[in-house]
Formats: sequence, C-alpha cells, structure tokens
Amino acid sequence: MKSREIHKSYRNVTSLKKSVDRLLKDSSLAPAFKITLFQLAKDIESAHSFWGDLRKRNGKRKTAIHADKLQIGGGRHYLEGFVNLDFFPPADVIWDCRYGLPFRKESFKFVFSEHFFEHIDFPIAAKKVLREIYRVLEPGGSVLLGVPDGGKVVRAYYKKEKRFLDKLRDKCYSNRRPPVEIYGNLDLVNYLFRDQLDNPRYATHYWAYDEMSLGNLLKSIGFRKIKKTSFDKRYCNPKRKFYTLYMEAIK
Ligand SMILES: C[S@@+](CC[C@H](N)C(=O)[O-])C[C@H]1O[C@@H](n2cnc3c(N)ncnc32)[C@H](O)[C@@H]1O
Repeated sequence: MKSREIHKSYRNVTSLKKSVDRLLKDSSLAPAFKITLFQLAKDIESAHSFWGDLRKRNGKRKTAIHADKLQIGGGRHYLEGFVNLDFFPPADVIWDCRYGLPFRKESFKFVFSEHFFEHIDFPIAAKKVLREIYRVLEPGGSVLLGVPDGGKVVRAYYKKEKRFLDKLRDKCYSNRRPPVEIYGNLDLVNYLFRDQLDNPRYATHYWAYDEMSLGNLLKSIGFRKIKKTSFDKRYCNPKRKFYTLYMEAIK
C-alpha cells in the first residue's frame, strides 16, 4: 500500500475518532444516537490502532518474526513461539483480520485462536477469516478454535443449571467497567451472543457457535478431520476453560 494512502487513512480515522469522542461526551444525546456512536467508536478504535501501526512502519511489515505458529486475537494472552496477531498491542502484528491475513500461503503449521472468532460478523467476515486461515496453513496443518460455547449456555439456561450460570456471571461479568446489567439468566445468554455495547473498547460479540454450527462452517471452507477437542494447557487461557468450545480441524 502506498505511504500517501496510509497517511490519508490514518488522518481520516483520527479525525473521525476525535469527532466521535467529542460527541460521546454530550450528555444530551438521544439514546438511539448514542448507541450508534458507541458501535461506531468500537470500529474506529480498532481502525485507529490498525492504521496507526501501518503508518508507524510506513507500510513495511515487521521483520524478525519467524514462527510456524500463528495466534489470532490473543489480546494480552501473548504466546511465545507464535506470531501473535491482533488489532491492539502487544501483538507482533497489529492487523484487522477482516482485511485478510498478511502472510504468504502455507506459512504456518498451526493456527490458534480463542475467544476471537465470535467477534467477527457472520457470515461474510467469518468465512473470509476462515478461508484466510486455510490459505496460510500448510497442507496437513491444523487450526484450534476456541469460542464461547453457545450450546452449553443455552442448555444451562433451559435446565436452570444454577452453578454454571452463577460461575459465568461471577467470572465473566462481575468485574466489567462500566458494570454490566443482569436482571435474569437470559441476560447471560444475551451477553454471550451479543455482548455489551456500553464500553467502546470492548469489541462486540457478533455471533455464537455450537459444535454443529462451527463444525459445518469449517467443513464448508474445506477443512477435514473436524472434531471437538479439549482444553490444551500449552495455549489455552485457563480462565475461559469452563465455558469454551474447542474445535480442531486439519487442512
Ligand atoms: C475477548 S478478546 C480474547 C483475548 C484472548 N484470546 C483471550 O482468550 O483472553 C478478543 C480479541 O480479539 C481481537 N480482535 C477482535 N476482532 C479482531 C479483528 N478483526 N482482527 C484482529 N483482532 C481482533 C481483540 O482485539 C481482542 O484482543
């Protein structure tokens, strides 16, 4: 990409960010407009990080990342021995996957991603990201995807599994700033499927998956030997284990 284009995009996104931040401070905003702005602020925040990093590097990729494993959307869960990609630091590669993956085909033996894929809109962006994972994997390489287990949470709601629902509430939602509002167990289901809007820095959940939906989606991309798998302590985040669906597939 040309340096002029990068600088122009960065300037545009910075000016958008300033306008939206200023508007959000206006306490007289109509609620419907405020919700639209929050949504916009989330996208602008990530775009600002993405274009800001490209600008800093003047379009050049970072060198010296030589790993045959890729983590996507790791956030602060940085994995040594991996190329860590996320649109916020401390990733090695600051990038928005919805633009594709900035690597040559067949660059990796293994792709890992946990609690990221539900943040990608379904089906267009979700399929684009999976096709890109498929492209950058070498033949026989594998992907391990962990997502919030939509099936488990719906089942727990239906069967009134108090212990599980209380744990979900305590571990996932009790420390949020601003605090989340939960008036009943169905709100836990709502958060899992949609997540909250009130914090511009917290990316939205766009879609929820269970074993069948994620399995068939992976199959539609061309993956094989798709199976539900278990928590792997080498990569997975222990605090998310109890409500995560882990799926593995081979290229
Ligand atoms: C809920 S956090 C999960 C972090 C970590 N995997 C964990 O389990 O603790 C979701 C991460 O996905 C990243 N993310 C969301 N959408 C993304 C996108 N389009 N491109 C790159 N990263 C994205 C966010 O920045 C965030 O770090």
